Amino acid sequence: MTKTPIIAPSILAANFAHLGDDIKKVNNADWIHVDIMDGHFVPNLSFGAGITADVHKVTDQPLDVHLMIDNPEKWVDDYIAAGASCVIFHVEATDDHVALADHIRSKGVRAGFSLRPGTPIEPYLKDLDHFDLVLVMSVEPGFGGQSFMPDQLDKVRYLRAEIDSHNLSTLIEIDGGIGEKTITDAAIAGCDAFVAGSAVFGTDDPHAAVESLRRLATV
Ligand code: DX5
Ligand code: ZN
Repeated sequence: MTKTPIIAPSILAANFAHLGDDIKKVNNADWIHVDIMDGHFVPNLSFGAGITADVHKVTDQPLDVHLMIDNPEKWVDDYIAAGASCVIFHVEATDDHVALADHIRSKGVRAGFSLRPGTPIEPYLKDLDHFDLVLVMSVEPGFGGQSFMPDQLDKVRYLRAEIDSHNLSTLIEIDGGIGEKTITDAAIAGCDAFVAGSAVFGTDDPHAAVESLRRLATV
């Protein structure tokens, strides 16, 4: 069955001096992916809840907030207040992923978890019903513009089978190295949502790039 893919441009690859203008260029995107990096969980810094709130003021598009930070428990409320539609944290950064997901959902916001490429999915399968989304990393988190890791599609296929066999509505999103050469394989493997940074904002026409990715992900 053909389903409509969700395309989520990552503003990490946008021009931060013209962020509002860049977001307008992708007004055809389904979600806006917001990468939060703390310089501890990943060796890079991006921006925080203040800029996320400013982004929310300039667009009605849902904000898909990807927290690559230590102690996410301490910060999730700030991102909910900033206008996140979905808050995604890393399972490697918390001792109680279920409690944190339940907390996020209790605020009326969708909850997601992400895993580094080397983190196995199996221990988390039993908790999928606490989550609206799983974000599979297809690069080591921390930087845009890296090469796609095709072996992560095994994780996607495994998750797809598990979600379908239990009739769950949890979405599978993939992040890292997604572009015209990789998005179709990710869609065939079973992804619902696709983050793309450099493949959107690194082109002359981000609006057209979103359309093209959506077409290539429709399988
Ligand atoms: C990486 C971030 C990604 C990044 C993707 O740690 O989570 O969202 O922006 O960038 P590209 O699409 O360029 O790989
Ligand atoms: Zn991300």
